[in-house]
Amino acid sequence: MDHYCVVGNPVAHSKSPQIHARFAELTGQAMSYDKQLVALDGFAEALGGFRQRGVKGCNVTVPFKFEAFACATSRSSRAELAQAANTLRFDADGIHADNTDGIGLVNDIQTNAGVALAGRDILLIGAGGAAAGVLGPLISAKPRRVVVANRTLQKAQALVLQHRAHPATIELLLNTELLPQSLQGVEGDFDVIINATASSLAGAAIPVQARVLKPGALAYDMMYGPAAQAFLSWARTHGAQGRDGLGMLVEQAAAAFEVWRQVRPPSAQVLGEMRAAIQLPGL
Ligand code: ATR
Repeated sequence: MDHYCVVGNPVAHSKSPQIHARFAELTGQAMSYDKQLVALDGFAEALGGFRQRGVKGCNVTVPFKFEAFACATSRSSRAELAQAANTLRFDADGIHADNTDGIGLVNDIQTNAGVALAGRDILLIGAGGAAAGVLGPLISAKPRRVVVANRTLQKAQALVLQHRAHPATIELLLNTELLPQSLQGVEGDFDVIINATASSLAGAAIPVQARVLKPGALAYDMMYGPAAQAFLSWARTHGAQGRDGLGMLVEQAAAAFEVWRQVRPPSAQVLGEMRAAIQLPGL
């Protein structure tokens, strides 16, 4: 029996144990997965303890994703682009860091929602940890352009600069002429807009104007559950398809499971089961 966990502070709300237990059951993998609440200054020490006990890997959530990246001895290119890790694998010779948040988002949009990203115009709202985790994989999906918009201009600029060297050649724009006027001033027609801000958690207004939505656009909130509902109903009111982040959660877990077990779990089935259990209109 191999052991895994999710590390965070707070971590009580995490659905990862439930998702990985179901993946293990459906793929016949002998593994356990639990939650580990770690003190804010105790992350490195906790990792040492896990490795001593023979734990094989962990998921990492707020606020440790940057520290997880820093602690690693090898890193995937998607973790390098994000400068953050949500998945660690403990190997005999060190700690391997990966970031499956972005591929989780891209797989949920393309496979589960059936919206192809190639050739499309994408607006990514936000430039914090959540946005940083997904920008590289969004670019890899070969959209026509990605515009990064954020309340604080400097953070959007830094995120774009961090991705300048991405091998996929697309136009990566920062709406410099518009951003100082606030997010409400963002202009353009987008096929896919992604809310990667914490604004829904804060109960703040929708950060952008509805004119950024092309008719039938996909409006995606990386949150799920009650926090995403205001954004989803705004999207639907304006003729867009709204989708919450539950599928991203399940797909990032599926990609992490693959990093650890080299087995692809039936993520769409597990997403369907969770959607039914939550009973909230998330898509
Ligand atoms: P996370 O890891 O969830 O991304 P974070 O790194 O603190 O958390 O980033 C939060 C993001 O939400 C940032 O892009 C933040 O904008 P600023 O960079 O200007 O702080 C954005 N955000 C938070 N509250 C917001 C609000 N009420 N309106 C718009 N953007 C908001």
